[in-house]
Amino acid sequence: MLDFVIFAVTFVVTLIIAVIYLYPTSRKTTTVPGLEASNQETGNVPDIERAGSLQEFLVDLHGQYGSIASFWIGQKLVVSVASPKLFKEQQAVFDRPVELMRLFRPLFGSSSIPFTNKADGRTRRTKYDKVFTRSAFKNSYAIFHKVSADLSTKWSTMPDEQHIPLTQHMLALSFKILMWTLVGDYFKDDKKLLEFRKNFDVCWSITEESLLAESFPEEGSQQFKRFSQAKSALHDTLKDVLQKQRSRPRGNDLMFVDMVTLAGISEDTQVEDLLTFIVWGVHKTAFMLSWALYFLATHPDVQQKLVKEISTALGESEVNENNVDKLRYLRQVLDETLRCSALSPWSARVQDFDTELEGHKIPKNTPVIHALGVVLQGDTWWAEPNKFDPDRFSSENTKSRPLLAFSPFGFAGKRTCPGAQLAYLEATSVLVTLLRQHKVKMVEGLVINPVYGIVTHPGDEIWITVEKRK
Ligand code: HEM
Repeated sequence: MLDFVIFAVTFVVTLIIAVIYLYPTSRKTTTVPGLEASNQETGNVPDIERAGSLQEFLVDLHGQYGSIASFWIGQKLVVSVASPKLFKEQQAVFDRPVELMRLFRPLFGSSSIPFTNKADGRTRRTKYDKVFTRSAFKNSYAIFHKVSADLSTKWSTMPDEQHIPLTQHMLALSFKILMWTLVGDYFKDDKKLLEFRKNFDVCWSITEESLLAESFPEEGSQQFKRFSQAKSALHDTLKDVLQKQRSRPRGNDLMFVDMVTLAGISEDTQVEDLLTFIVWGVHKTAFMLSWALYFLATHPDVQQKLVKEISTALGESEVNENNVDKLRYLRQVLDETLRCSALSPWSARVQDFDTELEGHKIPKNTPVIHALGVVLQGDTWWAEPNKFDPDRFSSENTKSRPLLAFSPFGFAGKRTCPGAQLAYLEATSVLVTLLRQHKVKMVEGLVINPVYGIVTHPGDEIWITVEKRK
């Protein structure tokens, strides 16, 4: 009998310990309200998959629990915040929880800037930020203009009724602009540019598929081999770029490629950072422009008002650093595009000591998601949030909102998006050049739904037609 009691007690104690350690929710060490794990191993990952994306999951989560809520990714408790007030509490935090970006690691590399925290990350960002200021791009307007004028000429040769695949054209345009702006003359050779683009597309499409499937192709698989070959070709080319750049005399105006060579990091890390900036820069600017032209095509009144502003503010001049600020309405259109598209719907931070958010304890090493897209598209700060209305960003209407309600580039720890200025300047120049010559219209009957990947992109091609302006 005693044996049985000992066995029973041992069994129950072991069971309790197993439940405590294996079942994540039982280890919840915060009072933040939120979801129980729906699966012992994967936490709420199945719920994220069911919602369609992390952005859509976060919209539901915050709808249910308010501006601070928790859930589980695998065995890890994750907290998400979605209000300007909570954003403010996170404003000084620099470090990023790299495990939330694990599927980007194969493409960007472990030592690339998004994966680099602490003093190393801060030092590198301080250096890089110097070549991403507005004035650092004063010589880039000519590039923005040349590439978009070539596209405008191409559109001019097309009949008015021809269907044009907008996102394809914007990807090709942004690719050329970004390569020339960040890397310089090396890619003025079309053959080199095309070869790089081919491998770049292979790596991006396999990474994107892995994001949707929540796992990267297994080592040894056909897809893994394709990815590795393409990535290694990209790395070889970028090494060649760096070698040539190092031996060139450097002018006063440094480009990103120059700054990378001066950052005091190994050649492998230089290559990883170059590739990371190219990949993020190309996709984000291409989809920002695609969404802007989509909203202008679906809102002809806004397009007309914008064309009028371009003509009044610039006359016949091209966009340059002295006149770009005159295009106030264009800036409002871009800001409303970033809000409506939630182009980059979330970022995240982590701290290696216990902290508090709104009175709740946040245990050390808990990833805190910044639900940028939830705030950008919620109805607390935006009346009729689904309506595209650039007037929300008039100086009058902006006064009544907290600054952080509009944070499409992030807001925390001197680690907001380094490419924000470049994105605005490129998009401004391209839209001016294209819209001066062409009226953009949607092909009738198309319904475009967003896909919230790490960059929010249209689910299907946006087909447009263009009509030459008189
Ligand atoms: C077009 C609009 C863009 C949007 C909406 C956007 C948005 C963002 C956001 C939300 C973050 C995370 C910030 C954070 O963690 O707090 C980020 C990071 C980053 N973005 Fe952008 N971005 C854009 C354009 C660009 C461009 C043009 C480039 C490069 C030329 C770029 C390169 C990067 C890099 C390298 C990081 C990581 C920085 C780090 O880890 O320190 N982005 N971006």
